[in-house]
Amino acid sequence: MAIRQIVKLGDEVLRKKSFAVTDFGERTHELLGDMYDTLKKANGAGLAAVQVGVLRRIFLVIKGESIEDGVYEMLNPEIIKESGEQYGTEGCLSVPGKWGEVKRPYKVTVKYQDRYGKPKTLKAEGFLAKAICHEYDHLNGVVYVDKADNLRAEEK
Ligand code: CO
Repeated sequence: MAIRQIVKLGDEVLRKKSFAVTDFGERTHELLGDMYDTLKKANGAGLAAVQVGVLRRIFLVIKGESIEDGVYEMLNPEIIKESGEQYGTEGCLSVPGKWGEVKRPYKVTVKYQDRYGKPKTLKAEGFLAKAICHEYDHLNGVVYVDKADNLRAEEK
């Protein structure tokens, strides 16, 4: 396992659409391990593969308050249902030191594959739903700053 460098806003790779995952073997598992280590070191809530420069439809989101609660590994995710609304502060490991408010659905249902290619469905709400939407946007070249109000640089 290894910590990978996080790509910062301004790098054009963050604006590209990621490709579907077709390899559920060792190479992808190594990437997932490195993404976990990188997310842990950075103390973030989620990380998409594109943020370490890999254009694959993969992201991690923490299950609870911190990475110690475990992470969801979502490969080829699709948000199939959204409801409600929330408006809260977001930041991004690719945009260090900045924060802004973004409107998101309160609940989402996401279909994805796990690291072995097994289909899964998750219903998420609140913080987890927000994190899934943020990471899902990365797979389509969207960064939260595109949607944020009151983007600012300050301590959280
Ligand atoms: Co982000």
